[in-house]
Amino acid sequence: MLPYHLCLLLMAHATQSLALTFDANGDALPAYSPARPPAVPLAVRTPYLSAWSSTGEKGTLNSGNPIFWTGDALGWTGIVTVDGILQSLPKLPNYLAASPQTVAYDSSYSNFTFSAGPVDITASFFSPVLPKDLCRTSIPLSYLTTTVQSTDGMPHSIQFYSDINSAWMAGGANGFMNWEIFRNGASINSTDNGTGNCTGNVTVLDLRTRVTYALLETSDRPDWGRVAYSTQPMGAQHFSFQSGSALDLRYNYVNSHGLAKTHVDSDYHGTYTDEAIFAYVHDFGLVSSAEVRYTVGLIQDPFIRYLTQGGVAQLEPWWKSCYNDMFSMIRLHWDDFMVTQELASQADSQLASDVDAFYEVRAPVPSPSIPVQTPDASSTWCATALPTETLAPYLHDSSDGYGFLDPDNFTGLGVPDASESDSYYAIVALSARQVMGSFVYAIPPPTSSCNVSSPGRGEPLMFMKEISSDGNVNTLDVLFPAAPFFLYANPEILKYALETIFQLQEGGFYPNGFTMHDVGASFPNATGHLGGEDEAMPVEESGNLILMSYAYYKFSGNSDWLRTHYPTLSQSASYLLEFSKVPAAQLSTDDFAGTMINQTNLGIKGIIALQAMSLMSRLSPTPSPEDGDGAAAPVTVTDATVRAYYRDWESYGIAPTRDHALLAYQWRSSWGLLYNIYFDKLLNLGIVAKPVYTMQSRWYARVSQLYGVPLDSRHHYTKSDWQLWAAATCAASTRRMFVTSIAYWLNNTVTGFPLTDLYETIGDGGYPRVPDAVTFKARPVVGGHFALLALLRTGQTASSEAGDTTGSLFTLNGTNALNNTEQGGYGSPGHGSLLVDRSDEIRGEGT
Ligand SMILES: *[C@@H]1O[C@H](CO)[C@@H](O)[C@H](O)[C@H]1NC(C)=O
Ligand SMILES: *[C@@H]1O[C@H](CO)[C@@H](O)[C@H](O)[C@H]1NC(C)=O
Ligand SMILES: *[C@@H]1O[C@H](CO)[C@@H](O)[C@H](O)[C@H]1NC(C)=O
Ligand SMILES: *[C@@H]1O[C@H](CO)[C@@H](O)[C@H](O)[C@H]1NC(C)=O
Ligand SMILES: *[C@@H]1O[C@H](CO)[C@@H](O)[C@H](O)[C@H]1NC(C)=O
Ligand SMILES: *[C@@H]1O[C@H](CO)[C@@H](O)[C@H](O)[C@H]1NC(C)=O
Ligand SMILES: *[C@@H]1O[C@H](CO)[C@@H](O)[C@H](O)[C@H]1NC(C)=O
Ligand SMILES: *[C@@H]1O[C@H](CO)[C@@H](O)[C@H](O)[C@H]1NC(C)=O
Ligand SMILES: *[C@@H]1O[C@H](CO)[C@@H](O)[C@H](O)[C@H]1NC(C)=O
Ligand SMILES: *[C@@H]1O[C@H](CO)[C@@H](O)[C@H](O)[C@H]1NC(C)=O
Ligand SMILES: *[C@@H]1O[C@H](CO)[C@@H](O)[C@H](O)[C@H]1NC(C)=O
Ligand SMILES: *[C@@H]1O[C@H](CO)[C@@H](O)[C@H](O)[C@H]1NC(C)=O
Repeated sequence: MLPYHLCLLLMAHATQSLALTFDANGDALPAYSPARPPAVPLAVRTPYLSAWSSTGEKGTLNSGNPIFWTGDALGWTGIVTVDGILQSLPKLPNYLAASPQTVAYDSSYSNFTFSAGPVDITASFFSPVLPKDLCRTSIPLSYLTTTVQSTDGMPHSIQFYSDINSAWMAGGANGFMNWEIFRNGASINSTDNGTGNCTGNVTVLDLRTRVTYALLETSDRPDWGRVAYSTQPMGAQHFSFQSGSALDLRYNYVNSHGLAKTHVDSDYHGTYTDEAIFAYVHDFGLVSSAEVRYTVGLIQDPFIRYLTQGGVAQLEPWWKSCYNDMFSMIRLHWDDFMVTQELASQADSQLASDVDAFYEVRAPVPSPSIPVQTPDASSTWCATALPTETLAPYLHDSSDGYGFLDPDNFTGLGVPDASESDSYYAIVALSARQVMGSFVYAIPPPTSSCNVSSPGRGEPLMFMKEISSDGNVNTLDVLFPAAPFFLYANPEILKYALETIFQLQEGGFYPNGFTMHDVGASFPNATGHLGGEDEAMPVEESGNLILMSYAYYKFSGNSDWLRTHYPTLSQSASYLLEFSKVPAAQLSTDDFAGTMINQTNLGIKGIIALQAMSLMSRLSPTPSPEDGDGAAAPVTVTDATVRAYYRDWESYGIAPTRDHALLAYQWRSSWGLLYNIYFDKLLNLGIVAKPVYTMQSRWYARVSQLYGVPLDSRHHYTKSDWQLWAAATCAASTRRMFVTSIAYWLNNTVTGFPLTDLYETIGDGGYPRVPDAVTFKARPVVGGHFALLALLRTGQTASSEAGDTTGSLFTLNGTNALNNTEQGGYGSPGHGSLLVDRSDEIRGEGT
């Protein structure tokens, strides 16, 4: 039992030190599993509900503020009082800090445990990842459950306090906020003072800006909508709540373990030291265990502005098609906790067992089937732009952990003693909430010209924010790197997104002859680019649209949808026929590296996309004369044309030393991650010769650095998404090297923000050390980490034939290419057979 005055002392201390920054509270850092994330996801459901706990600079949950994805502080504090001793949780500086023990995450949960005197405390943050569940995915709320459990067999006096501030909304910064409390959907400011029996329904704090600027953002936070922080009495002896000044409320709590109950202070006090907050207190009295659950969320309605034939429409969030109104949604979400828990637990078990299935249950590294070339000391690798310090390969030295090149045979070694499958699970489980939290589902506009085969009634449109890079909506070259997640988890999501690109292009809203970059410059405005002034990436996006559309078809078996959009795809293909083999000075998706002429990886993307087009053209109806009407006849892409292009590409894009692909045709000793060949393998297109896979697989091991393989020979930085795409095209030893070195990076990087995909492969694994470097955070492209699992969906596993095949090292002809006549949808035998008899498909649904 802590003397009363000591509580006050602690409070006074807290008051005076609120402005100071603290590292860890002097406590040992917790044990992380399965890896140490740069930032632990707390509540991550939409581009606006994105709360994290940084582990940068030894940060822990109760030694630093939760952050919005941008890194700005969010007020979300908690105190658990045990026998009168205050234990801050999640965070309140300078109360007696509970000492962190463990931090464990899976795809939906981040669980923290603390020890606090005679009790253990847990905080379980739950943002369910259920990619096949439209309604649950569309709910913009997240759960937090805190528990206290006596460890000495004795009951203790237990109180929970939790508050949030207004920084969750943009308006928090300028002070125009309204606070209101609801129960059963009715405002209870003065009608229920808490002395009555308030077991039962959810109490909702509703916080919103006084003046609503609809569909406007400030510093990436919404200027419209509301924050909802909800709880129930949870069997507490006394349950109370209050809004007002942070100092008053926390002082009241410390003094009386309660709040004023009825008082809702509508005055706004600004943020920071004496900010306005809203708090709940659950006082359990003497118990040996107690549990409190909260839900927190940001609710926008309407959510998206979208350009349609009928003008700009304001689209409603998809949850409105599942629930009557905001309050029912909040209450049903609350009541659904147990069910959602069960579903998320099943989904996570499925993820873990799919990882095991890919690795054929913790398979050891397979031994190589061919002797490996000994490196030639005079070889040209790495000789262009990298500083001399990297000319020598990193060899393994257990004292500094460096070294992912096996010196005995110059294959990839990876991090010694790290399990590849555990490392891979650690990466994908951390990435899942980040990708699911990057988009929203909206109810399509009534004027939508959707037909049976398009998303219409019963299906949403998906709008993804290009978080942190520039806020574009449904950027094709962000959807593309993320596509492995969707193909693995639910290919329909890809359709809900691509449909918006098709609708704008087919609606006549885009003037350029190539494929548009995105459907709107600034989320949540999906208002297109009527002037064609989007960021031009013609080969990149034309290839992306074709490849993702074909991939959707291969994974879903839905050929009707492809047919609906065939003319648009055909237009993209025409562009590629003309411009992809020798790409002009264009941006590729890695636009932070600038434009470049003759990009090898861009050229092969176009060619692979043309191969996909040649296969799609067999699914498409022959254009009939009445379709003519001035419209360009659909382009014909033949297999022979594509093979001829491919042969030219090999002759331009492979180094004369025949040991790696060039970064650009004219840069004779450059190199880069040739990640675009992944779709050749994923979609079984059979256009890239096997020796090219083998060659690249060997090459990557030779240029790998501490935290993986640089993106290209110009810099030390790399992209985690493209690395895992490349890994999926490699032999086992190189794939292991990629996977374990990315997990090693997770454990060691100094980046303390939501997962960046762009980082240095050397030094401290920080953000790029180049002038004007971009600092990526929380981008959806981490969906690309699922590249191996998307392969699993096609029936390929870790030991499937990859780069390590026998045969001549190099065949200019592409005669070693896979046999591409075997075509069909993956995963659904019925769909596969639909495709065998092509005449049938053209007539319609044969099965
Ligand atoms: C987190 O806690 C929840 C609820 O107890 C549990 O279902 C889940 O398995 C836990 N996950 C991890 C990684 O500990
Ligand atoms: C609280 O509510 C009860 C019952 O409605 C009423 O009798 C009591 O006077 C109220 N107390 C305060 C402080 O408003
Ligand atoms: C409150 O409700 C609980 C459960 O319904 C009941 O056991 C208790 O007697 C009620 N208390 C009051 C003061 O009405
Ligand atoms: C909870 O809310 C529902 C719906 O508003 C209502 O029917 C029910 O009576 C409420 N229960 C309690 C205990 O207030
Ligand atoms: C969306 O468009 C509206 C109307 O043009 C504009 O006022 C608003 O600032 C835009 N929002 C963003 C985030 O750019
Ligand atoms: C509750 O308080 C808010 C903020 O002062 C106010 O806007 C609202 O009208 C009040 N509701 C009731 C029912 O008194
Ligand atoms: C490389 O050599 C090491 C040491 O002889 C061996 O353990 C490893 O399995 C080899 N790896 C490959 C891929 O050949
Ligand atoms: C939708 O379907 C109807 C009837 O099948 C057809 O007449 C119409 O042209 C279709 N609209 C579009 C945009 O495809
Ligand atoms: C681009 O590559 C083509 C084909 O190899 C070559 O003819 C052309 O000169 C290259 N362009 C530049 C600027 O190097
Ligand atoms: C990362 O750290 C975890 C412990 O947090 C450890 O189990 C795992 O092996 C590490 N992985 C790598 C690749 O270093
Ligand atoms: C290309 O393939 C053809 C037949 O498949 C073969 O006759 C020819 O020699 C090959 N050319 C080269 C350069 O390998
Ligand atoms: C390609 O596959 C088809 C169908 O399985 C088979 O008939 C054909 O012989 C194969 N061609 C080659 C070159 O392997």
